[in-house]
Amino acid sequence: MQIDDIRRLCVTGAGQMGAQIAVQAAMHGLEVALHDISEEQLERAVSENRKHLGRKVEKGSMTADELEATFARLTTTTDLEAACKGADFVIEAVVEKLEVKRKVFAELDRYTPDHAILATNSSYLGNSRIADATGRPKKVVNMHFFYPPLVMKLVEVVRGDSTSDETMDLTLALAERMGKVAVRVEKEMPGFLVNRILRALANEAYDLLENGVATFEDIDKACKLGLNHPMGPFMLGDFSGLDIGYNARLERYQETGDERFKPPEALELRVKRGDLGRKTGRGFYDYSTNPPTPTED
Ligand SMILES: NC(=O)c1ccc[n+]([C@@H]2O[C@H](COP(=O)([O-])OP(=O)(O)OC[C@H]3O[C@@H](n4cnc5c(N)ncnc54)[C@H](O)[C@@H]3O)[C@@H](O)[C@H]2O)c1
Repeated sequence: MQIDDIRRLCVTGAGQMGAQIAVQAAMHGLEVALHDISEEQLERAVSENRKHLGRKVEKGSMTADELEATFARLTTTTDLEAACKGADFVIEAVVEKLEVKRKVFAELDRYTPDHAILATNSSYLGNSRIADATGRPKKVVNMHFFYPPLVMKLVEVVRGDSTSDETMDLTLALAERMGKVAVRVEKEMPGFLVNRILRALANEAYDLLENGVATFEDIDKACKLGLNHPMGPFMLGDFSGLDIGYNARLERYQETGDERFKPPEALELRVKRGDLGRKTGRGFYDYSTNPPTPTED
C-alpha cells in the first residue's frame, strides 16, 4: 500500500481524543467513519467540533465551505462493522483498558479489509500487548496524538515487537498528511517519548519542592524563563488535571511499593480537597484571578 491508497479512515472511540482526530483527518481530505458505542458521544463529537471549526471560520483560518466539506466527509455510526467497511486505516481511541482494546482489535481485524493498518492512540499501552488479538500483528502500531488533537502538532509513531517497516512508514506519512509532525519511536517504552520526559521533569520538580529547595511558583518560573517552557510543571499539572497525575503515581506505588512513586504531599492534599486544577478552578493555582495566584498548602 502507498500513502495515496489511504482514503478511508475509521476512528473508533469518539471521546476527547477520537472525535478531534476524526475531524482533523476529514479536514485534510480523508473520508472518515467515526464510531462509538454511545450515540450521545457521537452527537456531542459533531456538535462540539462544529463549534471548534466555526471559530476557525470566524478567525479566517478556514472558509465556511471548507467547514461544510469537512463534515460532509465525516459519518458517524454505532455499528463497528459498518464503520470498518472499506477502511484502509483505523485509529482506535476507546477507553484506556487493555481488555477492551484487545476485544475491539479482534473485531477490527474481522471487519476491515486485509490491507488495513490498525493503530492505537493509547498513551501507555504498547501495541505489542494488543497486536496478537489480531491476525495481522505486522500491521498494528501506536499512533499517539496529543490533547487537543486539533491543536497539538505532534504524533508519536511507535514500533511494537511485530510492527513492519511498511506500517511504520505509512503511519508516519498519514500523520503528516493529516497536518501533523510525526516522530518515529523505535521501541516500546512506558510513556513513549514525551510523557516519559514529562514524568522525569515533574518528579524532579516535586523532589525540589518536598526538599524545601524552592516554592512551586518559583520552580514554575524557573522552567518558564530558564528552559523557555510555555508553563512550568505545576501549572501544567493543573491543566492536565491533578487527579490524573495523582492516580497514575498511586497505581505505580501500589504496584511496586517503591517510595519514589509515592504521590507527593503537596499533590495529595490538593486532590483530596477536590482542587484538581483548571477544571475545578483551583489546583496549585487559583484561576478565579487573572493572572492565577498560587494557593496555600
Ligand atoms: N485524553 C488525553 O489527553 C489523551 C492523550 C493521548 C492519548 N490518549 C488515549 O486516547 C484513548 C482515549 O482517551 P480519551 O481521553 O479520548 O477517552 P474518553 O473517555 O474521552 O473517550 C473514550 C470513548 O471510548 C468510547 N468507548 C468505550 N468503549 C468502546 C468500545 N468498545 N468501542 C467504541 N468506543 C468505545 C466511550 O464511549 C468514549 O466516547 C486512550 O487510549 C488514551 O490513553 C488520551
